[in-house]
Amino acid sequence: MKQFLSIKDVEKPEGLVQQALDLKANPFGYSKLGKNKTLGLLFFNASLRTRLSTQKAAQNLGMEVMVMNMSTEGWQLEFEDNVIMNGESAEHIKEAAAVISQYCDIIGIRTFSGLADSAEDYSERVLNTFVANAMVPIISLESATLHPLQSLTDWMTIEEQKTVNKPKVVLTWAPHPKALPQAVANSFVQWMQQAPVELVVTHPKGYELAPEFSNGLTIEHDQNKAFEGADFIYAKNWSSYNEYGKILCQNTGWTITEEKMSLTNGGAFMHCLPVRRNMVVSDQVLDNGNSLVIKQAENRTYAAQAVLKSILEG
Ligand code: CP
Repeated sequence: MKQFLSIKDVEKPEGLVQQALDLKANPFGYSKLGKNKTLGLLFFNASLRTRLSTQKAAQNLGMEVMVMNMSTEGWQLEFEDNVIMNGESAEHIKEAAAVISQYCDIIGIRTFSGLADSAEDYSERVLNTFVANAMVPIISLESATLHPLQSLTDWMTIEEQKTVNKPKVVLTWAPHPKALPQAVANSFVQWMQQAPVELVVTHPKGYELAPEFSNGLTIEHDQNKAFEGADFIYAKNWSSYNEYGKILCQNTGWTITEEKMSLTNGGAFMHCLPVRRNMVVSDQVLDNGNSLVIKQAENRTYAAQAVLKSILEG
C-alpha cells in the first residue's frame, strides 16, 4: 500500500481485515519489520484512541514514534499558494511537510472538518496538501470527510463477532448536543458497501449524507423498522450535509435504548467512541454484554498495525 487516505487506497479490503485479525492473534510476529523506521503522528485535533492505538501498533512492529499536537505545539501553517504571509501563519506547508519527511518514514495526520464550508471540507485541503508536499506515505488519522482506520476496525469487529454469514448492519443517526462531522458515517458506509453485510442506514430527514456516499444506500427513516432483525447497531451522530454543519434535530426519541435494541436479532451495539451517555445511547445499552465499544477500541491497534505493516512492506 502506498498511502491510507480511504478505502480507495486498499486493493483488497477483505484481505486487510484478515491481516488485522491475524495480527491480533500474533501481535509481535513482525516486531522487526519497523526497525529503524519512524512514524510521525500529527494531530490538529484531539484524540484518545487513534493516538494511543496507532502508537501501540507502530511499537508492535518495532517502529519509533513521534507525536506532535500541531494546534498547540507547532507553528501555525499556511496552506495557500502564492500568499504574502503577513498574517498569523508562520510556516508554509511546503517546508513543513518536506521537513517532517526528513524525520519520518510514514506520517499520520488528524485534521477535522471546520463544518463551515462543505466545498472546503470535502476538498480535504489539509490532508491533500500534506500528500502533495510530503516525500513519505501519509495515513489519515481522521480527515474532514473520512475516518478509514475506524471503518477498517469496524469491519474487523463485525467479522470477528458475527454469527451469520451476511449480518444485517444498521447505521443509525443519534442525537448529540454539538454539531459533528460526517466523517465516521461517510467512511462506515463506504467500507460496509464492500463488506459481506446487508447495510441499512436510518436517520431523520435532512441528515442525508453527501451524494458520493449516500448513492445506492438503503435508507429507512423509521428507526424502529430499520432495527428489526438487525445483528449490529452502529450509532453515530453527524450534522446535516445539505444544510451544512447544522443541527436539525435533537429528538431524544432517536437515542439508542434497551427498548430499541429489543427490536433487533439480539443485535450488538457499536460506536466509535467517545460517546455521550444517555444522549446517543443509554447507560443500560452501553453497560450491557452486547456492547462492542471496548472491543472496537481494542481492535483499533490491530487495524492500524495492518495498515502500517502493509505500507512498510510496500
Ligand atoms: N474513535 C476515535 O477516533 O477516537 P479518538 O477521537 O479518541 O481518536
